[in-house]
Amino acid sequence: MTVSIKGRHFLALEDFTPEEIRYLLDLALQLKEEKHAGKNQQEFIGKNLLMLFEMNSTRTRCAFETSGCDLGMGTTFLSNSHFGETETIKDSMRVFSSMYDTIGYRGAKHSTLLEMTKHSTIPIINGYTDHQHPTQMLADAMTLDEIWGREGYKGKTLCFIGRGGAVNSFSYGVICAMLGMNFTYITSYMDLEEAMDGLTQAQRDLFHQFVPEGEVSPNWNTKMDPKKRKIVEDLFAKYSPDCKFIETDNIDAIKGVDIITTENWGFFTDPVETWLPGIIRFRPYQVNRELMERTENPNCIALHMLPATHNMDHASGQRLLTAVDDKDLQEFLKKGMEVTDEVFEENAAHIFREAENRLHTIKAVIRAVQ
Ligand code: CP
Repeated sequence: MTVSIKGRHFLALEDFTPEEIRYLLDLALQLKEEKHAGKNQQEFIGKNLLMLFEMNSTRTRCAFETSGCDLGMGTTFLSNSHFGETETIKDSMRVFSSMYDTIGYRGAKHSTLLEMTKHSTIPIINGYTDHQHPTQMLADAMTLDEIWGREGYKGKTLCFIGRGGAVNSFSYGVICAMLGMNFTYITSYMDLEEAMDGLTQAQRDLFHQFVPEGEVSPNWNTKMDPKKRKIVEDLFAKYSPDCKFIETDNIDAIKGVDIITTENWGFFTDPVETWLPGIIRFRPYQVNRELMERTENPNCIALHMLPATHNMDHASGQRLLTAVDDKDLQEFLKKGMEVTDEVFEENAAHIFREAENRLHTIKAVIRAVQ
């Protein structure tokens, strides 16, 4: 049977079948081979791609832009428009639909993306919202295809450890269920009060300069949202009934996993001073040599969607070191935050392959929906 997703929006993985996801992965593998062989891929000359980005991005933005160029499309990056601010989403969408052929969108709210689809006559691709990061999941799956051979991921166990937030632990749960992998989500259930107890008075004062006393961010809760959990459970029941989905705060669950992935312990949109209690909370969940050894799987690999705080050699890292006034925590952070520099560099070939694959998978989606 020929698979086609032409004309469809790409909003969330669960809107598609595993066969359709597999079709996108195979297309991405083909497009990568073609590009590396120097084949001209400019089949969309005369078409135009809009990248509407309301949040910072390096990989997703660059992957959309280079994909569009490779395919021969004109590209526009828009981050300072009237969209939703001084013009209704409906009006902006009527304009975009008249000028462009595809939109890549990154924004804080999935509800905005859904509103956009109501008024769009062209396909829209989700480049991250608070529901899911579906193009990232394609890049991760493609990377596993390349490491273990096509569909070599089947039956393997992927573990997301640390601050899963609302989006990424869920996204990994969905892709695992759809592709036939076990999914283990290990996170801390520590409450904010307990984490604050681990800080010095100076650190607590600094934190409260940004977060008023008594306020708890809804993002503090790292348990998977019940509605999202239900989506993941239903997908496992439908597509991968023999695979396991575990959520726990017990690090022992790391034993036997094949892939470990994680993300930053703070929110990139918030000042680094607000990350302080998160560092206390997630310190035992750091991806370091000891954790890799606890898998008892010598072939276990580490991935990271990036950006990674694997050392303090960037502006936020330096600011974090200034905020942290005790030597022990400073020394800990200098070796890396959610992942140590040691483990990161040992797995850099996988991690930067994963980053490159953002290009090939996003290009596959653009080509498939055109
Ligand atoms: N992984 C990822 O989405 O990276 P960017 O935020 O840089 O796009």
